[in-house]
Amino acid sequence: MTAVIRIERVSKSFLHGQQENTVLADMSLEIQQGSFVVMVGPSGCGKSTLLNIVAGLLPASSGRVFYKESLMVAPRLEVGYLTQKDTLMPWRSVERNVELPLEIRGIDRVSRERIASDLIGKVGLKNYEKLYPRQLSGGMLRRASLARMLCTDPETLLMDEPFGALDAQLRLELQGELLRLWEASGKTVLFVTHDIEEAIALGDRVLVLGSGGQIILDHTIDLPRPRDVGRIRFQPQFVEIHHLLWNALMVARSQQQEVAL
Ligand SMILES: Nc1ncnc2c1ncn2[C@@H]1O[C@H](COP(=O)(O)OP(=O)(O)OP(=O)(O)O)[C@@H](O)[C@H]1O
Ligand SMILES: [Mg+2]
Repeated sequence: MTAVIRIERVSKSFLHGQQENTVLADMSLEIQQGSFVVMVGPSGCGKSTLLNIVAGLLPASSGRVFYKESLMVAPRLEVGYLTQKDTLMPWRSVERNVELPLEIRGIDRVSRERIASDLIGKVGLKNYEKLYPRQLSGGMLRRASLARMLCTDPETLLMDEPFGALDAQLRLELQGELLRLWEASGKTVLFVTHDIEEAIALGDRVLVLGSGGQIILDHTIDLPRPRDVGRIRFQPQFVEIHHLLWNALMVARSQQQEVAL
């Protein structure tokens, strides 16, 4: 397998007044093409910062990120990014928001509307197309953002807590939808969540990050596919993996508390 994303000794610091806050310290990681990689880690450990760097939106303080052997210095069309905070345009309706990336690429109106309407249906927002972001709930905003990311069919998906704001049933539905989309496609997914069950149900590989973006655990999830996200938690192996990840997260958290003290 070839690495589609290669993170090479990346560090990132932010200046808080006079003080330098090192968020990522010398982090290296390879993401194989076609894999579904999930990152979990305590709040503030640098997951979103890492995705921002990988997406080409934020420069690293040092180190390099490669996308298929070329240096990632700006966002690329093949890489879709669902950021942690929604960035829908407040003056555009749901459908006009979802269509936006297609409009930018010069796709004709009829095709745009067809693609957008199909995705709006898939994320469960049918009948809400004409509403504006201010009229949507948090979970609906997330789903509209998801549809917008998917409309250009990117080969690589960076997803930062996409399903966190959804109710349990809807989350299962969209997890299932994402797996179906991914399994048939050869796409690469780098996915951030706080939900261990979600990480196990979706991922080929789960990374537990600690302070400074240190990889505390890099675990391959070899549960068979296709997976039924609603039932996978009843498998004995699921419980074992859950323990393993939970313990690694405890290590990550205690590390972070030490840094904060
Ligand atoms: N633009 C910025 N300027 C200054 N500090 C920042 C900036 N972005 C992130 N940070 C700091 O970097 C650290 C990591 O933030 P980040 O958003 O990457 O964490 P996270 O792991 O995604 O957390 P969460 O799980 O809560 O989303 C935090 O201490 C945060 O204050
Ligand atoms: Mg984050």
